[in-house]
Amino acid sequence: MRTPLSVAARANVQPFAVMDILQRVAELRAAGRDVISLCAGEPSGGAPGAVSARAAQIHASGLPLTYTPTLGILELRQAIAGHYQRWYGMELSANNVAVTTGSSGAFMLLFLAAFNPGDKVALARPGYPAYKNILKALGIEVIELDAGSESHFQPTPELLDAAVQEHGPLAGLVLASPANPTGTMVTRAELEALSAWCGDHGVRLISDEIYHGITYPAPGAADPKGVCAWELDRSGAVISSFSKYWGMTGWRLGWALVPDDLIQAVDALAGNVALCPPAPAQMAAIEAFSEQSYAEADAFVAEFSRTRDYVLGKVAALGWSDAAPADGAFYFYATLGSAKGTFTSSEQYCVALLESEGVALVPGDDFDGVGGSATVRLSFAAGYDAVCEALARIERFQAANA
Ligand SMILES: Cc1ncc(COP(=O)(O)O)c(C=O)c1O
Repeated sequence: MRTPLSVAARANVQPFAVMDILQRVAELRAAGRDVISLCAGEPSGGAPGAVSARAAQIHASGLPLTYTPTLGILELRQAIAGHYQRWYGMELSANNVAVTTGSSGAFMLLFLAAFNPGDKVALARPGYPAYKNILKALGIEVIELDAGSESHFQPTPELLDAAVQEHGPLAGLVLASPANPTGTMVTRAELEALSAWCGDHGVRLISDEIYHGITYPAPGAADPKGVCAWELDRSGAVISSFSKYWGMTGWRLGWALVPDDLIQAVDALAGNVALCPPAPAQMAAIEAFSEQSYAEADAFVAEFSRTRDYVLGKVAALGWSDAAPADGAFYFYATLGSAKGTFTSSEQYCVALLESEGVALVPGDDFDGVGGSATVRLSFAAGYDAVCEALARIERFQAANA
């Protein structure tokens, strides 16, 4: 008789509800339906031309494409350090740069290196679901901060104080600015306060800056790309990626700025977990830091900005409320309120919208397990024309189901 096998309890992480929607998008398209997907958090334009051209050259050259050093090729680590000089005026050693398999790979490595099972790590709710799912799988206790519109959906020292009172000491704080799903950012003063709070309480700050550069600052604003946590304190980790600003989601390349005390651990872990990030992507990604590539990425940001303005102008007509200001990224997160019409949850609303009008939005449940059944996330990365058409269809859908 065979002894039954089991699935590890730690693997019992929440699946993404959005995957069901995406599956249905694919089915409808295969059946010939014209579907506008405002689900995906990815720019549709792809990598800068020079990056793609370099990748083509690399593959044509017949280079053997062997493993690279675990933390990435030196030229790329140096180019990333140079990027911090360009955007934030920061001096940085390439030794503190760890190139990873997307920023997702960096989260896994930093969570492993910085936290023990049983530690408590705080993050904002609503938030990017992978943080809490990875932390939970690693046996780390997730403390969700109920961050509403009054704090731009971001953590505050007051929320952290309350969390410590209720749950005891924290080991870490995961911060995303701009955030997913809300697009909200913390100001320099707010980041200073959070960073100081972490310093006072022995809390390691993990700052997700993957949407830096995709920002909509007022003309002449002081920190147009966002504030880098390492401008203030280098005891936490900064995480970023080629996925969003440079439109390179599928290249699976990101990086972390790793504090001195964690670099050896991250190196050892990365060597065991992945050996190295993808070699051709690393070689080609050096081209992302050319003037031309920055110009191409900025042109996409300008297009996102135009689309964002259009969406913001439509909120009142849609009857959505509590809309986040979307200072950055390419998301719009709102409470449906009476716009939900005859549907009892945002998931039902999204399913019906997709079936009847061929527009795909993400219900809020993935981002907020408490209040998400009342909210939706719209990604405006699909482009201006697609978003205009989608919003017209949503208005028609809501009118028909009021
Ligand atoms: C806030 C945030 N962080 C990290 C990621 C992961 O991105 P990647 O692994 O492609 O770098 C995403 C993806 O959507 C995200 O929204």
